[in-house]
Amino acid sequence: MIEVKDLHKSFGDAHILKGISTTFDKGKTNLIIGQSGSVKLFF
Ligand SMILES: Nc1ncnc2c1ncn2[C@@H]1O[C@H](COP(=O)(O)OP(=O)(O)OP(=O)(O)O)[C@@H](O)[C@H]1O
Ligand SMILES: [Mg+2]
Repeated sequence: MIEVKDLHKSFGDAHILKGISTTFDKGKTNLIIGQSGSVKLFF
């Protein structure tokens, strides 16, 4: 299992990822879905 806690990312003054927490479970299909620009890049 991978656990992500309170993940933040900024590009200069642009704070684009504001505290994401989630888990990715071993042996399961884990999906990241969302509209364009919703910060899927960092997963
Ligand atoms: N290198 C960068 N410099 C500045 N801002 C960035 C950079 N990379 C991504 N961003 C910004 O981060 C936000 C999320 O972008 P991201 O590429 O993660 O979206 P996405 O969910 O992967 O979208 P898509 O489905 O279009 O690939 C956007 O507002 C984008 O402008
Ligand atoms: Mg993307």
